[in-house]
Amino acid sequence: LDGDGARHFELAMQTGRTVILPGQQTPTWGFNGAFLGPTLRAGRGDVIRMTVRNGLPEASTVHWHGIRVPAAMDGGPHQLIQPGAVWNPAWTLDQPATTAWYHPHPHGTTAQHVYRGLAGLFIVDDAEDHGLPAAYGVDDVPLVLQDKEFAADGSFSGDPLRGIYGILGDHMLVNGVWNPRFDVTTQRVRLRILNGAQARMFNLTFADRRRFHVVGNDGGLLGAPVEVDQLVLTPGERAEVVVGFAPGDDVVLRTLDNGVDLAKGDFDLVRFVAATGLKPSPALPAHPATLPAIVPPAGARLRTFALGGRDSINGRPMDMDRIDEVVPAGAVEIWEVDGSGFAHNFHIHEVAFQVLDVNGAAPPAHASGHKDTVYVPVRSKVRLAVQFGRDTDPSSPYMYHCHILRHEDAGMMGQFVIV
Ligand code: C2O
Ligand code: CU
Ligand code: CU
Repeated sequence: LDGDGARHFELAMQTGRTVILPGQQTPTWGFNGAFLGPTLRAGRGDVIRMTVRNGLPEASTVHWHGIRVPAAMDGGPHQLIQPGAVWNPAWTLDQPATTAWYHPHPHGTTAQHVYRGLAGLFIVDDAEDHGLPAAYGVDDVPLVLQDKEFAADGSFSGDPLRGIYGILGDHMLVNGVWNPRFDVTTQRVRLRILNGAQARMFNLTFADRRRFHVVGNDGGLLGAPVEVDQLVLTPGERAEVVVGFAPGDDVVLRTLDNGVDLAKGDFDLVRFVAATGLKPSPALPAHPATLPAIVPPAGARLRTFALGGRDSINGRPMDMDRIDEVVPAGAVEIWEVDGSGFAHNFHIHEVAFQVLDVNGAAPPAHASGHKDTVYVPVRSKVRLAVQFGRDTDPSSPYMYHCHILRHEDAGMMGQFVIV
């Protein structure tokens, strides 16, 4: 907090070295440190003032993914910060409690900047009591999932722009750590999980197949917990889950191939080891939150987006000087996203959406809440009910794009303004 009552955050983008594999120094990029970034946390209604310094040798940007901000504060490709320069976005936070994140978004080099380590979580709190475990780092635990490839000298290898999808690494990092362990001290743990990978989809399951509850999606908490034994997260998506533990449990959270697009290979992510005595946790809440349903009005505007191969939408690659869509302030529209023969997902800046259907069928219950990023499986059509905000700016566009970063960088991105 500074003198004017605003929440002031300082982020310095910098280069550094990190020990990830035993005995090896990996050159990495980070915010306020060598690798990844601090978890930012603020409350609904707070005035946010950011100071973002670029200490990198290249121009970059910082986008607040999942945070609803005026377009000029969004940190997309138009808000470039030159090396040595400072950017000062400010806005009033007004959205329900959620787990969002931040990462660079310079057009054409987003994949490289994120791959080197620029990413962090941004948690939004609101005034409601959600009844969920809430001691950060104790029973409310972030898991930033990313895959990397290492060269013999310990540096990250692989070209994030290669092939059809970019990198599908063979080392899974959680919060920047390879083979981590978490010591469980409570009967239930809330995990805030981010897929912060380039392309990899995580198909999450516990080694003993224990069931867990999904309580939140990208855009906020669910109306009711949904019990599952596996959960697919595509790049950019977040989920909040609650997992129960018994004293002495020792269980690994894994990602399994199982034929899910881009979940190639089976890997351990993080080992949970429970103490022999566990502190009591709150009961699973019946209603973590109640967010208003996003319902398109009769005659709602329908827009269609055909994802082409690996580099275009509706036949056109991203053009920084072209506005693709003009949306009226506060509109609820139906956006229909048509995948091609490749796997994709789709992210829209600024908005909250709900998935209406995937190939005509309702989405699974755990994916029914407010979201900003959705999986578009090979050869499928996804329809979204999209709630746009009320901040108008005819000259600053927001982005929509595939969040497989190799596709985004190659041009599978478009621009819209709210007027
Ligand atoms: Cu996570 Cu347009 O970004
Ligand atoms: Cu975004
Ligand atoms: Cu794609």
